[in-house]
Amino acid sequence: ITMIEHSGFHWPLFPGLSQRLVEDLAQFKARPDDTWIINWPKSGTHWCWEICCMLVSGKAELLQQSKVTAMYPDCAGNAEVEPIPSPRVLNTHATPDNFPKEALEKSKLIYTVRHPKDAVVSYFHHTKGIKFYDYERGTWAGFLPVFLEGKNEYGDWINHTESWLSLLDGKPNALILKFEDLKKDLRKEVQHIAEFLEVSRSDEFYDDVTRLCSFDSMKEGKLSGKDSDVWRAESPGVFRKGESGDWKRHFTVAQNEEFNRHFNERLKDTIYAKKIGYEFL
Ligand code: A3P
Repeated sequence: ITMIEHSGFHWPLFPGLSQRLVEDLAQFKARPDDTWIINWPKSGTHWCWEICCMLVSGKAELLQQSKVTAMYPDCAGNAEVEPIPSPRVLNTHATPDNFPKEALEKSKLIYTVRHPKDAVVSYFHHTKGIKFYDYERGTWAGFLPVFLEGKNEYGDWINHTESWLSLLDGKPNALILKFEDLKKDLRKEVQHIAEFLEVSRSDEFYDDVTRLCSFDSMKEGKLSGKDSDVWRAESPGVFRKGESGDWKRHFTVAQNEEFNRHFNERLKDTIYAKKIGYEFL
C-alpha cells in the first residue's frame, strides 16, 4: 500500500491526494455551523454522515454519496470543500495534530468509536475491496500485525483514540458516540445527536431518519458504498455486514490472545481510551 508520511502520520495515497492537500489543512476556513465526523476508519463514518446531514438539513433523505465527497481532507482538499453551502457535514480520519485548529474551537465535533476488533476486520475488507490499494491477495494473517504495530494508514488506534478523546472529553462543542450504541438503539442516538446539534425536529422526522439509516436501507442505495470505479466487483463495498462482533469469525484463538495482551498492556497507560469501556478478554 502506498502512503504519504506527514508529521509522522500515514495518509493513504488516494488518487488525487497529495502532500500539498494535507499541508493545506492549516489554511482551512472553519465555520461555526460545520459539523465534523471524526474517527479512526471503519467506525461509522458513512452512517453518522447521513444521520447528521438529515438532521441539519431537515430533509429525511439519504444522500447516497458514492464517496462522501465531503470527506475532507482524506480525499478532497480545501478547494473542493470550500464551495459546499452551509451547514456542511465534513469527515476526517486525521489526528488532532493534522486537524485545523480553528475548527476545534468553532465547529461541532463528533468522534465515533468502534470496538477495535470489529474496526480492524472491517478495515481489512475495505483494503482488499478497494481497487487502488492493490491488496486483492492480502491476507488477514498479514493485515492484523500491521494494525497491532500501528503502521496502517491513519495510524495507531490507541494513539488516535486517546489523543482525540483527551482533547474532546468534556468540551461543549464535542460529542463522543459509540458504534455499538447506534446498533443498540438507533432512534435514541438519532435524538441524542439532534440535541447535540441543537436542532429540534418532530418525532415523525426522527422515526424517518432511523428507518432510512438502518443498515438494510443504506445498503440498498445504488451509489453509496459500491461505486464500481472504486470497489472490486466481488467486494460488498462500504455496507458489508454492519454487525458488532463479526471479529469472532476472523480471529484465531492465538490472534485473539495476542490482541488482548497487546491492548490490555497499552490501555493501562491511557486515561480516555480505557474509559470507553471496551473489554479485551
Ligand atoms: P462492516 O465492514 O463491519 O460491515 P465507515 O463508514 O467508517 O467506512 O464504516 C463502515 C462500517 O460501518 C462497515 O462495517 C459498515 O457496514 C458499517 N455501517 C455503515 N452503515 C451502517 C448502518 N446503517 N448500520 C450498521 N452498520 C453500518
